[in-house]
Amino acid sequence: MIDIADAAGVIHGKIQRLGLGDDIGSLEKVNVQGEEVQKLDEVATQVFLDALMKGGKVAVVGCEERDDPVFLGQDQAPYVVNMDPIDGSSNIAVAVGIGSIFGIWPNAGNLETTADVLLSPGKYQVAALYIVYGSNTVLVLASASGVREFSFDPDTDSFILTKPDVQLPQKCQYYSINYGNWEGFSTSLKDAVLDLQTTYSLRYVGSLVADFHRNLLKGGVFLYPEDVNNPSGKLRLMYEANPLAFITEKAGGLSSSGNEPILNIAPRTLHQRTPLMLGHATAMTTIMSRLKNTETNQ
Ligand code: AHG
Ligand code: MN
Ligand code: MN
Repeated sequence: MIDIADAAGVIHGKIQRLGLGDDIGSLEKVNVQGEEVQKLDEVATQVFLDALMKGGKVAVVGCEERDDPVFLGQDQAPYVVNMDPIDGSSNIAVAVGIGSIFGIWPNAGNLETTADVLLSPGKYQVAALYIVYGSNTVLVLASASGVREFSFDPDTDSFILTKPDVQLPQKCQYYSINYGNWEGFSTSLKDAVLDLQTTYSLRYVGSLVADFHRNLLKGGVFLYPEDVNNPSGKLRLMYEANPLAFITEKAGGLSSSGNEPILNIAPRTLHQRTPLMLGHATAMTTIMSRLKNTETNQ
């Protein structure tokens, strides 16, 4: 955690100066996701990999910006990590909140033989955390002892505990979805979204981690479901859905791919995508019952 937090402090500094230096802009290359890599994606990847190597606690890293697992040369280290070094890259150059996401699993050992050592279901995570570089920079950590929020203090370059016990509030206020995909939604999903529309307010900034953090603190549900063009959805299981589903469930919420809880999914590949719905239990229960009802009536 300390290694990641220290590195996040460095990234915070770079983001505060984005327009002034040369960390902004595109690297004019496409990653394994088929997405254009921003300079900050690569800078953040290197800063986090260096920090994890120096910390000596992590053996292997799965990373959105690396096709294959990154072995850190310390195979006996106790943990493996899947990370999204910069989430919300399309918002980097327009001063909208972006973030970093990490899932931490025990190192099951025998790394040489099982390169898929990173592919463990989300329910086996020992911890998960994200950082939002927004109007302020916060780090939210979920572990066996619950969910805590830390706020970055630029005067001391350190994260201070600001919320010792984060739980989704009683009342759900928001739902987050990209209506641009509406035409490709199934009938049952459209029914579920219309339910949300009549009950909650829409909030969507296009950075998963920023939308998620608002929904966690204020009460909301986030959906990036499958559609006809994206049958497996858009978001990645190992370093977006699993860490945030772990945090959601520790905070009293629910998560689902539409077919099963996110944390139960048996991963097949490092960069596999999954439909993702997660957040406030009330809204999630309504969505899931709507999807089930309409399916049985079809
Ligand atoms: P990343 O920048 O790591 O590729 O993630 C972007 C993701 C996620 O942050 C966000 O919720 C989603 O892309 C937005 O997708 P749309 O632009 O299709 O709404
Ligand atoms: Mn992302
Ligand atoms: Mn990313």
